[in-house]
Amino acid sequence: MSKREDWPSEKISPEDLLNMAREAADRAYVPYSRFHVGAAMLFENDEVIQSCNVENASYGITICAERAGVVIMVSQGKRNPLAIAVVGSHETSDDYFKIECPPCGACRQALMEFNTNMLVVMASKDGAKVFELKRLLPHSFTFDPDF
Ligand code: THU
Repeated sequence: MSKREDWPSEKISPEDLLNMAREAADRAYVPYSRFHVGAAMLFENDEVIQSCNVENASYGITICAERAGVVIMVSQGKRNPLAIAVVGSHETSDDYFKIECPPCGACRQALMEFNTNMLVVMASKDGAKVFELKRLLPHSFTFDPDF
């Protein structure tokens, strides 16, 4: 877990970013799994991009919330997300968006591409938990021989 003093924004707290992820999760298109995932990526100058998972009748082409965020970010000409908050829950869960939803392996790799020092915020029963992405994906694939 990362230290609170490393958090990159004075205006938007980890809890604020989680709430933005929860708002995005409400908009998820999930008729098949009924599992809503929301993400909120924080950038320089406190800019935030929200995203959610988008499923399809052809199940395999479903896009996760985190990778949807990466696509939106690049399409908007942005790079270097400083942090990402991720929430997820089944529609019927009592713990709706209050328990950990760790990003899947593919999404960890997709996020590493854009900032190896990114922070990842997850919900927990005790509030927001902040992790370092590079600790969630040790020894990740890269073309950079110095990493
Ligand atoms: N999902 C995400 O959006 N992000 C992840 O990191 C893991 C899973 C979505 C995909 C699918 O729509 C639903 O969660 C159930 O797997």
